[in-house]
Amino acid sequence: MSPAHDPLGRWHDLQRALLGAAAAQSEDRLRDQAHPDLSPIGWHLEHCVFVECVWIRSALLADHAIRDRLAQRCLPELAPKSARGGLLPRRAELLRWSNETMQRNWALLCKVRDPDAADPLRADDRILHFLVSHHAQHLETVRTAAGRVRTPGQPAAGPGHPGSVDAPTRSLPGAVVPVGSADPARAHDNELPRARVRLRDFRIAQRPVTNREWEAFVVAGGYRDPRWWTPEGWRWQTRTEVEAPDAWQGAVPDDPGEFVAGVSRHEAGAYARFRGGRLPHEHEWETARRAGLLHDTGRVWEWCANRFHPYPGFRPFPYREYSLPWFDGRHFVLKGGSRLSEPEVRRPAFRNYYPPATRHILCGVRLAFDGSA
Ligand code: AVJ
Ligand code: FE
Repeated sequence: MSPAHDPLGRWHDLQRALLGAAAAQSEDRLRDQAHPDLSPIGWHLEHCVFVECVWIRSALLADHAIRDRLAQRCLPELAPKSARGGLLPRRAELLRWSNETMQRNWALLCKVRDPDAADPLRADDRILHFLVSHHAQHLETVRTAAGRVRTPGQPAAGPGHPGSVDAPTRSLPGAVVPVGSADPARAHDNELPRARVRLRDFRIAQRPVTNREWEAFVVAGGYRDPRWWTPEGWRWQTRTEVEAPDAWQGAVPDDPGEFVAGVSRHEAGAYARFRGGRLPHEHEWETARRAGLLHDTGRVWEWCANRFHPYPGFRPFPYREYSLPWFDGRHFVLKGGSRLSEPEVRRPAFRNYYPPATRHILCGVRLAFDGSA
């Protein structure tokens, strides 16, 4: 079986990767908050073990002991990020318990899974696929917190890009197109049900914006020119006084050919207007991706024009809080995945979502333009 089609193997690998990332931290680093928007690495591990226990032990096997004991500190809505480090067990205890509990969870689900069952958790291995994608997302966040630039087995930055101001663009004619996942068993609730949407003619860049291109925006005074900013974006800029991407060490990038990362959606939109363009709508992005028109996806998360919203007929799975609270008008979609992402989140239909001021993740931008060339 190819790795992509062996979800039990993938889940096992992700459990090992989460344990390994936590084991690489010292007692203090395990409970440190690398950034106010990030949780301690140890919390991510305990949370992932807890989520397994919620679905396997509690939901499938009616054993609620671990869920009830850990809910206070492992449910994001009950434990504020800044309090999470202080609630963690000691490093040795956390690693021992997590390792044992994950191994036991794996064996339990192997025994009770039944893809042909009628109940929604077991049918088509949906809860197993959910755990794989859930852990993949937390692993990316752990890598972000650990400040790792890339993961073993993934290519290094590569030769870089000339970064001419005019990245090639591809045109798509207006059409009614399908969006969302065609594989409901592996999809998140927010990718379903598959929808049809109407797109106008547009153009989209073949690759994301590079640091070198972004530097021209800095040098031209783009951060201090309200013409390029939305009113909300300008208020954000005035408040934060940000004048370069989060990943830069100052006003100059250390890798000009690499794709810009660590920019908020406010900055991404201002940059796009400076270039006479705009951000792509997620449906445009997904359509261009399916048509094979986008190069260099999965390197930086790409900010989209639109807010995170439910498709018509949305049904929460496996719990209301997975997507529903984030359809709040305060979260915007990002597509594609970053170089810290696992394959499960690099799918064309996958929708990431963050508030527009977010810049602590590997988030960048790809330009779009109205009309055909
Ligand atoms: C979609 C990546 C923002 O990590 O908070 C993990 C995904 N949801 N556990 C997050 C998620 C529940 C979510 N992001
Ligand atoms: Fe989670």
